Amino acid sequence: MARVRDNQIPYVHQCTYQYYADLIHYLAEQRGEIKHLCEVGVFLGGASVLLAQAAVDFDLTLDLIDLNPNYLGYTYELILRYIPEAAARVRAFHGDFPTYVEAGHIQRQEGSVFIQFDASHEFRFVLKDMVALRSAKEFIKSFAIQDTNLRSKEPENEIFVDLAVYAMFGFDVRYRPVGYTWSRDIWIGSDWELYLSKDRPEGFLIELVENRFGYPSDEV
Ligand SMILES: C[S@@+](CC[C@H](N)C(=O)[O-])C[C@H]1O[C@@H](n2cnc3c(N)ncnc32)[C@H](O)[C@@H]1O
Repeated sequence: MARVRDNQIPYVHQCTYQYYADLIHYLAEQRGEIKHLCEVGVFLGGASVLLAQAAVDFDLTLDLIDLNPNYLGYTYELILRYIPEAAARVRAFHGDFPTYVEAGHIQRQEGSVFIQFDASHEFRFVLKDMVALRSAKEFIKSFAIQDTNLRSKEPENEIFVDLAVYAMFGFDVRYRPVGYTWSRDIWIGSDWELYLSKDRPEGFLIELVENRFGYPSDEV
């Protein structure tokens, strides 16, 4: 019980309440503007059920994207069980985001796209997601990316989500902080020796129109 009482991380599923709430408030604010949602990295559907409800409420479609077919199947079933009216709006894609983009799924959308990333947290894979994002940039309005405060005590684990965003958009990237910001480092543990670093937002919400893809530079 002491461990439960001491837990100061306001997480539900894999993100904080605040993170999920910020996403839904943003989608409400963008009602009529955004038409399609992609969720990259679904795990056990923590964000997916909320996004599916938003799809119903705001007349959107939702694609779930994950490398693990078991998580995709579980999440899809969860949505069908809790929000059956979302069924016709939700699809599942087995693979990573670059493969989804390469297959033309973003390009086939008829309105602006919003993407929620919470997939791999390793620098090189997040960078690949950002490169794929760049390749479909004219179809994408905005995206959110979680765990921009996540670090490993062992840097060779390459847990640098925020640095991959900076690599693509530059250190002066304009973003809206989403989720929770801790005032001290929070230990998580696991095989990856993870912790949340203080004074960094849990996620970034980025409007493409306010930013430029700085890599590679247009000047070389
Ligand atoms: C942190 S969990 C997602 C949690 C979820 N967003 C939630 O709110 O509960 C990460 C998920 O990303 C998936 N994943 C990991 N690397 C991936 C990649 N490169 N592309 C797509 N999915 C990936 C994992 O299978 C896992 O389901």
